[in-house]
Amino acid sequence: MDSLAAVDWAAYEQQALSAISGDALEDARVKYLGRKSELAQALRGVRDKESGMLLNGVKARLEAAVTAREHQLELAARRAAADSGVDVTIPGTPVTRGRLHLLTQIRREIEDIFLGMGYEVWDGPEVVTVWENFDALNTDQGHPSRSKLDTFYLDDDTLLRTQTSPDQIKAMLTRTPPIYMVSPGRVYRRDTPDATHSPTFQQVECLAVDRGITLADLRGTVQQYFRQLFGPDRDVRMRTSFFPFTEPSVEFDVTCFLCDGRGCAVCKHSGWIEMGGAGWVDPDVFRTVGLDPDDWQGFAFGFGIERIAMLRHGLPDLRAFWENDVRILGQF
Ligand code: DAH
Repeated sequence: MDSLAAVDWAAYEQQALSAISGDALEDARVKYLGRKSELAQALRGVRDKESGMLLNGVKARLEAAVTAREHQLELAARRAAADSGVDVTIPGTPVTRGRLHLLTQIRREIEDIFLGMGYEVWDGPEVVTVWENFDALNTDQGHPSRSKLDTFYLDDDTLLRTQTSPDQIKAMLTRTPPIYMVSPGRVYRRDTPDATHSPTFQQVECLAVDRGITLADLRGTVQQYFRQLFGPDRDVRMRTSFFPFTEPSVEFDVTCFLCDGRGCAVCKHSGWIEMGGAGWVDPDVFRTVGLDPDDWQGFAFGFGIERIAMLRHGLPDLRAFWENDVRILGQF
C-alpha cells in the first residue's frame, strides 16, 4: 500500500506527540488525527490485518495523548483561575424567571373580558384637572372628597385623580356615541396605609352610552364580568346608593365564590361580597359634555382591582401589592 509504504509511522507518531504536548492542541489533533490527516486517509485504505493493527495502534496512542493533554490543560486553566482568586468550582447563581405583577395579570384579564364584550380599552392619565375629576362629574363644591386632606392636589387646577371616572368625561368629549369603554388604572387618595387602606390603588371604570339601553344591560354586563372572574355560578345584586354623577346610583354585590352564598368568613357570613359603585349616567353629566340626555342613555361603574386579587387568593393585606416582596409576589 502506497500510503503505508510512503510514511514513516514511527516518525509520524513522534511528531504528533510533540505537537500534542504543545499549546495548540486542537490544531495538532486536526493535523494528525482529523478526517484529512495522513493517518485517517491511510486507515481508510487499509486492506490487511497487519497494517490495520499498526495504524490503529498509532491512532489509539495519539488519542490517549490528546485526552491526557486536554485534562492537563484544563487543570492548568483552573489553577490559573484559582491563583487569580476565581473559584470556578462555585456553583453559578441560578437565574430566576420574572413574571407579571399579580395586579397586572388581573388587569389584563379584566381587559380581555371587556374586549370580548366589544368594549374599547382606555388608558387615561393619572394627572387630571379638578374640572375632570369633580366638576364635570357633578360633584358639588362642598363635597368632602374635594378636601386637600383627602386629595393630592398638584396646584389649584390639577390633581392626582381620586377615581377613574374622569375617563368617562374624556371619552364622551372625544368620542361620538355609541361608546363602550373600560379604563383600568391607578387612583390616589390621602389615606394612611394599613391592611385595607392605601394612598394608591387601582380601579376599572366602565362607560356605555347608546340608545335604548336599560339598567338590565348594566346588570347583565356586571354579571358577565363577575362570572368570568369568579366562575359561572355567580349571581349579582344591586343595592341603592349615591354618587354625584349617576342617577339612580347602585352598589353591586356578587355571591361569595367561596361558600356559594351560604356564608363564610370571606363574605362575613352574608353570602355576598361588595364589589363597588355603578349607576345610570346623570343627565347633568351628559349636558356638561354636550350630549342630549333625551337622546342618549348610559351606564357606568367603577370597581376596585386589588379587591379581586385579595378575594381570589385570600390575601389579607393590601400593602403586599406595592411593597414588592418577591417572596409573596413570586407565588402568583
Ligand atoms: N368613582 C366611584 C368611586 O371611586 C365609583 C363609581 C361609582 C364609578 C359609580 C362609576 C359609577 O362609574 O357610575 O367610588
